[in-house]
Amino acid sequence: MLLAGCSDDDQERRRSLGEDPSFDDFMEVADAERGARLFGQCAACHTIRMGAGDRNGPGLHDVLGRPVASNSKRFSYTGALLSIGGVWTPDRMDAWLTAPAKMAPGTSMGFRGVPDPLDRADIIAYLRTQSADGGGASALPSRPRGGAFKG
Ligand code: HEC
Repeated sequence: MLLAGCSDDDQERRRSLGEDPSFDDFMEVADAERGARLFGQCAACHTIRMGAGDRNGPGLHDVLGRPVASNSKRFSYTGALLSIGGVWTPDRMDAWLTAPAKMAPGTSMGFRGVPDPLDRADIIAYLRTQSADGGGASALPSRPRGGAFKG
C-alpha cells in the first residue's frame, strides 16, 4: 500500500499540483484506479459492491451524494455520525477521511484517517465510480466554504 504512493505517476501528479493545491486541484488529478487499490485499507470494514451488505462498517456502494449515516438500512450508526446531517459531498468525504473522529467525535469508525491528500482524492474518485451518476458530484458545489460543514 505504501509502495503505491511512490510510483512515477504519483510523483508526476504531485509535481503538477504546484504549491498549496486546493481540494479541487487534487480531485482534478485524482486516479480512481489507484483509489481502488487504496480502498484496500477500508475493505476490512466496508464492502463497495451493490448489495454486498455491511461488515464492521456500513456498505459503501453509492455513498457519495447520499445523506450522511444512511447508506445502509440495517447498519446501526452512532449518534455522533447521525447528528452531522447533510449529504456526502466529495468535500465532506475529504474531511471525514482525513480524521473521522474529528468530524464526528464518538464515531465507531475506528480508523485514524488517510493523511495524504492525494490518497484521499484517489479514494474519493474511486467512491465516485461506485456511485450512481458519480454521486451527483457534478451537481454539487465541490467546496462549500464558509461553514457549511463544521468539523
Ligand atoms: C476499522 C473499521 C473501519 C475502517 C478501516 C474504515 N471504516 Fe468507514 N466506517 C466504519 C464504521 C464502524 C462506520 C460507522 C460510523 C458511525 O456510525 O459512527 C463507518 C462509516 C463510514 C462512512 C459513512 C457511511 C454512511 O452511511 O454515511 C463512510 C463514507 C466511510 N466509513 C468510509 C470509509 C473509507 C473510505 C475508509 C477507508 C479509507 C473507511 N471508511 C475505513 C468502520 C471503518
